[in-house]
Amino acid sequence: MARTEEYALGEYTFPRGWFMIADATEVNQTPQAIRYFAQDMVIYRGESGRVVVIDAYCPHMGAHFAKNTSSYVVLDGEQVQGDSIRCPFHGWKFSPEGNCEEVPYSPVSNPPNACVKSWPVVERAGCVFLWHDPEGEQPDYDVPVLPEWDDANWVQWKIDHLGEIDCHPIELVDNIADKAHLTPIHGSSEAQYFENVFDGHIVIQDFAAGHRTLASEVLTNYTWYTGPGILMSRMGGDYESIIQICHTPVEDGQVRVWHALLVKSADASNPDKGIAYAREYQEVSRLALMQDYEIWANKNPCFQLLKVIGDGPFGQVRRWYKQFYDPREEALKIQEKCNGRIVTKGTVRDPWPEKKS
Ligand code: FES
Ligand SMILES: [Fe+2]
Repeated sequence: MARTEEYALGEYTFPRGWFMIADATEVNQTPQAIRYFAQDMVIYRGESGRVVVIDAYCPHMGAHFAKNTSSYVVLDGEQVQGDSIRCPFHGWKFSPEGNCEEVPYSPVSNPPNACVKSWPVVERAGCVFLWHDPEGEQPDYDVPVLPEWDDANWVQWKIDHLGEIDCHPIELVDNIADKAHLTPIHGSSEAQYFENVFDGHIVIQDFAAGHRTLASEVLTNYTWYTGPGILMSRMGGDYESIIQICHTPVEDGQVRVWHALLVKSADASNPDKGIAYAREYQEVSRLALMQDYEIWANKNPCFQLLKVIGDGPFGQVRRWYKQFYDPREEALKIQEKCNGRIVTKGTVRDPWPEKKS
């Protein structure tokens, strides 16, 4: 696994930002062990419906909050109470903010230092996102909201869990600049235009071309990263759709990946038919992503690419991506340097300049 340090990305091993950590349908009142950013955490849904993520180990004597099946706290269903969690070892109870609320056998209810780290989380469009921040600050941007999620004319996605790859996330993010892989990997033809816009914590790819599987004519893609780990793409192909691809570091040099596709119903008067088309189309989209995935899963790390004219702006994407590995102050400077629009030539709208003879 190639590590962050080898890419010289910045001060931090793991980037700042919102990251997907769970499919919301799988989070319930049974606390579950999860691991991201090389840290053990526990996720559960409180009785109010709120999703809570805390560090996995109890500050009292280090028991794991979720890896237990035999304590009577667990067997008697007393682990999640309200939105709080009780440790299976000695029964200390912690609020969703991570403060100790009760020590059942002691008059001391909140001993000093009896705090467990609680992570900021939001639930959006069937996914749980966590804010990871080496500076320990509150989020400085939001997870995108898709109004289509609650629109009856659209079919909600079912998340594809694509598992873990031993590949540094930067290699996945490179894709946003990668015009040249679109024909060999994805079967794009006759590129109409290809451009990238860098705007603070967002980078956009605007692209249109023919496509072998997702469109009978031209496929338009308006794709953007919100921060380092959430990619969305509004696609205009045979159906209108929105892709979400999330990747989250598990260890340094390893990511977990999810894919999902929100599809405009092919037939709003016949929901079953709409769902069937949406699922089929999502599968075609998943297979298109798996073409990238196979490359990522088997490639050598690329610390320095051998760039030629016709490649997209990889260098600028990597500069933009560095902002998440440095303190905010530095990140603002990086943003100022990166903001702007870059057109990659060699398309119908932006052809190569005529060769001088
Ligand atoms: S280890 Fe958690 S209450 Fe003792
Ligand atoms: Fe791709």
